[in-house]
Amino acid sequence: MSPSTFQKNILCIGAGYVGGPTMAMIAAKCPQYKITVVDINPDRIAAWQTDHLPIYEPGLLEIVKQARGRNLFFSTEINRHIQEADIIFVSVNTPTKTFGEGAGKTADLQYWEKTARDILKASDSDKIIVEKSTLPVRTAAALERILHSNEKGIHFDIISNPEFLAEGTAVNDLLSPDRVLIGSRETEHGLKARQEIVDIYANWVPWERIITSNIWSSELSKLVANAFLAQRISSINSISALCEKTEASVSEVAYAIGQDSRIGSKFLNASVGFGGSCFKKDILNLVYIAESYGLFEVAEYWEQVVRMNEYQEHRFVRTMIAALFNTVSTKRLALFGFAFKADTGDTREAPAIYITRKLVEERAQVVISDPQAIANAKNDLADILSEVSFQQDPYLAAREAHAIAVLTEWNLYKTLDYRRIFQSMLKPAFIFDGRNILDRELLYKIGFNVYSIGRPPLTHFQD
Ligand code: UDX
Ligand code: UDX
Repeated sequence: MSPSTFQKNILCIGAGYVGGPTMAMIAAKCPQYKITVVDINPDRIAAWQTDHLPIYEPGLLEIVKQARGRNLFFSTEINRHIQEADIIFVSVNTPTKTFGEGAGKTADLQYWEKTARDILKASDSDKIIVEKSTLPVRTAAALERILHSNEKGIHFDIISNPEFLAEGTAVNDLLSPDRVLIGSRETEHGLKARQEIVDIYANWVPWERIITSNIWSSELSKLVANAFLAQRISSINSISALCEKTEASVSEVAYAIGQDSRIGSKFLNASVGFGGSCFKKDILNLVYIAESYGLFEVAEYWEQVVRMNEYQEHRFVRTMIAALFNTVSTKRLALFGFAFKADTGDTREAPAIYITRKLVEERAQVVISDPQAIANAKNDLADILSEVSFQQDPYLAAREAHAIAVLTEWNLYKTLDYRRIFQSMLKPAFIFDGRNILDRELLYKIGFNVYSIGRPPLTHFQD
C-alpha cells in the first residue's frame, strides 16, 4: 500500500511504555492506517528505529518489525505530524506533581497542557484527540476549553481511551485485551468520533470486548481499575503480617479465599510491596480528587492502600535487620531483582529502591543483581552510587554475602543452584524471599535461614 492510499493518519505523541507498544499493535493489525509516533526525546525515537528498543518488553520487537517502515513510523517532527493527523493519541507522562498545590498527590498535567497547546497551534483541520495517558476525571473538560479557544474554526473531539496493559505482558494484553474502553461526549459529534476509535480496535478485538461510555466514566474507570488492583495487594499484604504471627500461610489463605468466585484468584500474591509507574500515582490522584470534592472519608479509605504498601516495604527491611542480629553494618547483602516486577527493566516505584536506600542508611554493602534493570537502577540510585555495587550474575552477587533478598519474581531466581550459592556465602546464611517464589523447605534443608512473606521463618537457631 503506498502512503497516499492510507485510510487514516494516526499520530501518537509520547513514545513511552504505553504509546510505543500500543501504536505498534495498532500498526501491526491495521495496515490500512499510517501510524506515526513522535516524542520530544530524540534518543527514544532513534532507539525505536533500531533492534534495541528503548523498553524491554517480551515479544514487542517482533510486533514492531511487522509494521515498521510499512505503516509504522517514528519521528521527532511533532508539528508536521500534528498537521497531517486525523486522530491524535496523547500518551505523554502524567507524573505526580512535586510542587505547589496538590504536591505529592495530584497529577502534574503540564506536559499534557503543553501538548494540547502544540496541537492547537499546529492544526489546520478538525481532529480527534484521544486521551491515552491516565488523567484525573474531568480533564477532558479543561482540554476542550483549551482546544476550542481557537479562532481557526477547527473542531476537536476529545475521546478517553485509557490503556490497561501491564508491563511484561504488554504484547499479549494488547493482542487480546479483557476490554477496550472508549468514552466520549454523548453528542452527535462525540458519538461519531467515538465510533472512529471503536473501528480501529474492531480490526482485532471482538466487539463484545469494546466498551463505550460517557467520557467521565472512562476517565474515572482507569483510576478506579488501578486502585482496585492495588487494593487487593494491600489487603493480602496486610494479612501477610498477621500470618507471620499466627503460623497461618498467606499463600494458603490467598488460595482458599481466591477459590470463591466472588473474590477470584488473581492479584492475591503477597509481596514485598507493589511498584510500577501507575498504582501509587493513580491512587494518590484519586485521593486528591476525592479531597477536592470534600469527600474526606473516601480519600482516607483509598490513601490507606498506599500506606499499607509503605508499611509492607518498611516491614521487610525491619525483618531483615532483626534477623541479621540487629545490625547489617558492613554486611554484604545481595538483592536478587530490582525491577518492580518480572519481565521488565522498569524500576519506577520499585520496592527495591526504598529497600536499598534503607539498607545503605544502615551501612550495609548492598549488591544489586537483575537481568534487565541494572541501567535503570543506576539512575535511581545516582546519589548513592559509590555506596552500592552491581553484579549481573546472581552467583557472583551472592558470593561471601550474609544474606540474599529476592525483590523481583524473575523466573531465573527459581532455578538457581542454591546449594552452590549457600556454599559460597558467609554463615549463618539468610534468604529473604520478598516474592514467595522459592522452595522454602528445600532452602531450609540446604542450610539457609529462610524468611518468606506471610509465613513464620524457618531458622536453624534454637530460641
Ligand atoms: C503512560 C501514561 O502516559 C501515564 O499517564 C500512565 O499513567 C502510564 O503510562 P508511560 O508511557 O509509562 O506513561 O510514560 P513514559 O514511558 O515516561 O513515556 C512518556 C513519553 O512522552 C516520554 O518518552 C516523553 O519523552 C514523552 N513526552 C513527554 C513528550 O513527547 N512530550 C512531552 O511534552 C512530555
Ligand atoms: C498496572 C495495571 O495492572 C495495568 O492494568 C495498568 O494499565 C498499569 O498498571 P503494571 O504496573 O505494569 O500494570 O503491573 P502489574 O502487573 O499490575 O503489577 C504492579 C505491581 O504489583 C508490581 O510491583 C507487582 O509485582 C505487584 N503485584 C502484582 C503483587 O505484589 N502481587 C500480585 O498479586 C500482583
